[in-house]
Amino acid sequence: MTATHTDKPAIVIARAIFPEVVEQLQQYFVVESNQANESWSGTEFVKRLRGKHGALTTGEQRIDAEVLAACPDLKICANMAVGHDNFDLPAMTAAGVLATNAPDVLTETTADGGFALLMAAARRISEGEHFLRAGKWREWSYDMLLGQDVHGTTLGIVGMGRIGQAIARRGARGFGMTVLYHNRSRLSAGKEQDAGGARYVRLDELLRRADHVVLVAPLTPQTRHLIGAAELALMKPTATLVNIGRGGVVDDAALAAALQAGQIAAAGLDVFEGEPSVHPALLRCSNVVLTPHIASASAPTRLAMARLAADNLIDYLTRGTARTPLNPELLA
Ligand code: DGY
Repeated sequence: MTATHTDKPAIVIARAIFPEVVEQLQQYFVVESNQANESWSGTEFVKRLRGKHGALTTGEQRIDAEVLAACPDLKICANMAVGHDNFDLPAMTAAGVLATNAPDVLTETTADGGFALLMAAARRISEGEHFLRAGKWREWSYDMLLGQDVHGTTLGIVGMGRIGQAIARRGARGFGMTVLYHNRSRLSAGKEQDAGGARYVRLDELLRRADHVVLVAPLTPQTRHLIGAAELALMKPTATLVNIGRGGVVDDAALAAALQAGQIAAAGLDVFEGEPSVHPALLRCSNVVLTPHIASASAPTRLAMARLAADNLIDYLTRGTARTPLNPELLA
C-alpha cells in the first residue's frame, strides 16, 4: 500500500519484527510488514519499497543509487542494526534519503556475545560438548581437551568503538587482562583509561603479542580481508581469533587453512563472508565455534533495537528529527 491510499505516510518493514513494534508503527503509518519473514530478493524488496516513504531494514537489504532511483518517494531507511554496510551513504545523502542505525542499545549485549565466543573458543567448550554428546567421554585423561587461559592474558581488540571498549572493560576488569587495541584513530587518554588502560598499537604488533584477538571492525573497503593469511601467520599458535564485526573483515578461506594447520589454536565466529552461507572448510574445522550472527540477540536488546529503528521512522516522518542519523546533514 502506498501514500496514495491514505494521508498517513507508507512504510515497509523488510523482515519480521516484534508484533508490538509493528503495532506502534501502524499508529503512524500505513505499514507493509514482512511478518512471514520471507527472504525477499533484491528485486522483490525494491517492488515493496516503491511508493513508500520509509523502510525498517535489518542490514540485509542493500540501499544504493539503483534502489534509490527506483524509489523516488523514499525519505528514510532505519536499520535495526548498528552496522550499516548495506547503505551506500553518499548515494542516500545525494538522494535526500535519511539513514539511521541502532547504536548504543546493543553495546553491552554484543560485548557479552563476543566474550562468550572468546571463552568458548579458548576453553574448547563446543568441542567438549560435541565430544560428550558423541559418547566419547569414557575416562579421565590429563590432556583431555586442553585449552588456553583467558584470565591474566593479553587481549587484542581491532576496532575500538563502543563495543570494542565494552569488551576491553570486561577483559581488564573481569579477567585481569592486558588490553591492546588497534583502531582507525587513537582514543583519548580518558577513554583508554576507561577501557581498562588499553594501549594503542599497530595491527602487526597486536597480532604478534595478543593471546586472544577480537575483531569488532565494520566492513569498509579498508577493512575487507584485513585479516588474511599474512596476518594470521603473525599470530601465536596458541592464540584465538574472534570475529563479531562483519563478515569479509576476515578472509574465511585463509582462516580455515590456518585453523586446520594449527597456525592458531581456535576461533569464534559470529559473522561470515556471504552469510548466511558459511565457508565449507570452516564447517569442517573442530576448533572453531560458529554462531549465526547472534551477538546482539538477547530478547531485551533486540526489542530495544527494533524500538529505536521505529522511533527514528516516527520522529523523521512526523516531525523531521531523528535519534541516530548517519547523514545528519539532511536534518539541517
Ligand atoms: C549490528 O547491529 O550491526 C549487528 O551485527 C546485528 O545484530
